[in-house]
Amino acid sequence: MPEDDMGGMKRDLTSSVAKDRIGEALLELSPDAIMVLDSNGKIVDCSEGALELFGYKSKGDLIGRDWFNLISDVCRGRAKMDFNMLQTRVLKNVKYKLVSRSRGEFDGLVSAKALSLPSGETIGFLAMIRPVTEGRVKGKPIFYEALKRFAEGLDDVVFLYDQKDGYLYVNRASVKITGYTPEEFYADRDLGFKMTHPDDLLMAKDHMANLIEGKRPSEFRLRILTKNGKVVWVEELLSPVLDDSGEVIAIFGIVKDITYQKRVEEELKTRSKELEDLVRERTEQLREAEHMAAIGRLAAMVGHDLRNPLQALLNEVYLIREKCRTVAQKIEDGDVKRSIDEYFNRINEQVRYMNKIISDLQDYTQPLKPDKVKTNLSHLIHSTLLTTNIPSTVSVVVNVPPDLYVDVDPLMMERVFVNLFLNAVQAMPNGGQLSISSSLEGDELLIKVSDTGIGIPKENMSEIFRPLFTTKSKGQGLGLPICRRIVEAHKGSISFESKVNEGTTFTIKLPHKPG
Ligand SMILES: Nc1ncnc2c1ncn2[C@@H]1O[C@H](COP(=O)(O)OP(=O)(O)OP(=O)(O)O)[C@@H](O)[C@H]1O
Ligand SMILES: [Mg+2]
Repeated sequence: MPEDDMGGMKRDLTSSVAKDRIGEALLELSPDAIMVLDSNGKIVDCSEGALELFGYKSKGDLIGRDWFNLISDVCRGRAKMDFNMLQTRVLKNVKYKLVSRSRGEFDGLVSAKALSLPSGETIGFLAMIRPVTEGRVKGKPIFYEALKRFAEGLDDVVFLYDQKDGYLYVNRASVKITGYTPEEFYADRDLGFKMTHPDDLLMAKDHMANLIEGKRPSEFRLRILTKNGKVVWVEELLSPVLDDSGEVIAIFGIVKDITYQKRVEEELKTRSKELEDLVRERTEQLREAEHMAAIGRLAAMVGHDLRNPLQALLNEVYLIREKCRTVAQKIEDGDVKRSIDEYFNRINEQVRYMNKIISDLQDYTQPLKPDKVKTNLSHLIHSTLLTTNIPSTVSVVVNVPPDLYVDVDPLMMERVFVNLFLNAVQAMPNGGQLSISSSLEGDELLIKVSDTGIGIPKENMSEIFRPLFTTKSKGQGLGLPICRRIVEAHKGSISFESKVNEGTTFTIKLPHKPG
């Protein structure tokens, strides 16, 4: 390269024009906050770093403003004094409280120097401002910028909360999740707690206190109220930021919207609850089926083994009774006569009871096909009462219209009434009243069988229709299950109400067509 050119370049770079260019380039490139002030302290030009530091969007916003307006009231007087002395001395790293439009007050170190012409005339000042970083987040500028750039692309809220100054940074995702802008967070250091759901506030404060005390990260779920009042479930991951002496100076946090996740969890919970219920129901059905199978085997055996000898026994009893009657006629003693009759009655009763057991078992295990005929209900009830052994201590009241006809299988319905009447009588060992009544409700016929007996305790209420459930020493626990099967085979239902020591009412509902 020719000597001349080299020399020319050297000359150019140290020339005043070159210095102007260097100044311009510095203003344009420097990440630091640099400002050019006129002799009155008005801002004439500034670097990008200055815009950012003081929270302005464009140079147009800042240029023309008074430098002293960027300084907090508390040190404006001192700053003016310093400014007046700039003619004669350079200002180096003087600490002022400065004011940022977005972040409010902050501490800054200001260096400034007069710009003088060769003639010595001062045409303005150059000022460099650096935010004070000691005691705050270390290495802030580089780390902070990288973090911000990364965080802006995220869907989760990312924030940095300074213990002293409140929110230093909040990314834009805050708008999507909370409805509040980062600026609203910068302006209100308590916004985080203010938008916490009241029911979760104590818990959130506890977590925060533990985090600061324990200096360990913390993770928890809470509800927040968005700006327009919507409740949103979020998960907060908070991490303490420590200074060199190990003190918590800031909190770094990530807030995730987990409303959807929560909903899925809730749905899963209900689904698994439904599944549990289904399993329980099926297990119950299986148990019932096992019961049925056991009863079926028992019924077949009992039916086979007992039916024939029982029939034979009844025949023999009948024959002996007839024979005894002839003999008894010759007996003078009335007491002996009566007791022979009583013995036969008792034998008959016991045999009938054995017959009931076999009929019950067989009824319960055989498929039911009602053979429905038009039946007079009052007749059916009275004839059933006649064949039921009702002690004299129990009074019977029947309140059924004499002309009420129902479409039922009379033999099956008789079995239902026998079982209900017997249960009622057995519930009144010291006597009482058995009442039977009927009524019509829409297209349903209601038949009520009530007693004034011992009642059914609460814990047995869900059990009494279960096959083989009995509280009686001589009971089979088949009466009510049979009643239900028969009534349901008639497309009806059976229910009950009971009070201990007051009595019980069973209600049969049957479909009824008038006429
Ligand atoms: N009217 C009633 N008052 C009080 N308890 C009753 C009444 N009816 C039924 N129960 C209760 O329900 C249980 C089941 O009745 P269910 O008729 O099915 O069987 P059981 O009477 O014990 O025996 P059985 O097979 O001889 O009828 C009874 O053991 C009794 O505890
Ligand atoms: Mg019974």
